[in-house]
Amino acid sequence: MLQIESREQVKAVIRRWRQDGLETALVPTMGNLHAGHLALVETARRVADRVITSIYVNPTQFGQNEDFASYPRTLEPDCALLEKAGCDAVFIPDQTTMYPFGIENPVRVLAAPDLSARLEGQLRPGHFDGVTTVVARLFNLVSPDTAVFGEKDYQQLLVIRRMVEDLGYGIRIVSVPTVREATGLALSSRNSYLGPAEKTAANGLSAVLLDAAERINSGSTDWARIEQLATDQLRRLGFRVDYFAVRRAMDLGEPNSTDPELRVLAAVWSGRVRLIDNVGANSVGFLRD
Ligand code: PAF
Repeated sequence: MLQIESREQVKAVIRRWRQDGLETALVPTMGNLHAGHLALVETARRVADRVITSIYVNPTQFGQNEDFASYPRTLEPDCALLEKAGCDAVFIPDQTTMYPFGIENPVRVLAAPDLSARLEGQLRPGHFDGVTTVVARLFNLVSPDTAVFGEKDYQQLLVIRRMVEDLGYGIRIVSVPTVREATGLALSSRNSYLGPAEKTAANGLSAVLLDAAERINSGSTDWARIEQLATDQLRRLGFRVDYFAVRRAMDLGEPNSTDPELRVLAAVWSGRVRLIDNVGANSVGFLRD
């Protein structure tokens, strides 16, 4: 597996692959890789001839009181996992490579406000602008044919899809379902922050999401009641709830009874650890109305 650090090197490698008629898939990550990331690499291998994974903990998407400094950095084991997963190259830029003019005054790519102002974006102002800013840079440097993202960060996925469409990148975005532990807990680098008691509580989150999805799949269209029931369940499990929301899958707007494809999303705190998760649901309620 090639290890690439510079802009020049990454461009040269991609150019060579392209000259050989090979299509490239990019898997952007912040490292601390787990089976969820490896599922992205596996998908990338299926849809392209060459796979390049980027590892970069992007400061511009972290808020002031967030965990940028303590975010787990595990480069050596990450590279070993990628090599074993059949990744062809890993791109490990440093801060100057990603932000040559510094992170205080970078050229920014702003996420579409209609998508980014709600849910995660409302609670983490500027977060999605940081994501679009760094993903646009990665796209410009790597110019992949395809980029692969997880559904775990569902709102991020929509924000990136919109950026690609709106700016005309011509990159195919492929999404991969969330990988879960046997308990249902969605894999996340931040799960390593959970102590044993918090971990046991965290296991309950996916069950509450699935319960809400089941109510929707069975015909309920009373979103407010579904959200309230779930919030009560989560509080009984000991979570502090940032939001529990039933939304339209395509843009996370408030659904009405004629929107069949929905997404149920939650952000909760288990102790000092913030967890996000989501599941899909199909509303059949409107068929009966
Ligand atoms: O999902 C992530 O790990 C990050 O938000 C991403 C897409 C790599 C951008 O830093």
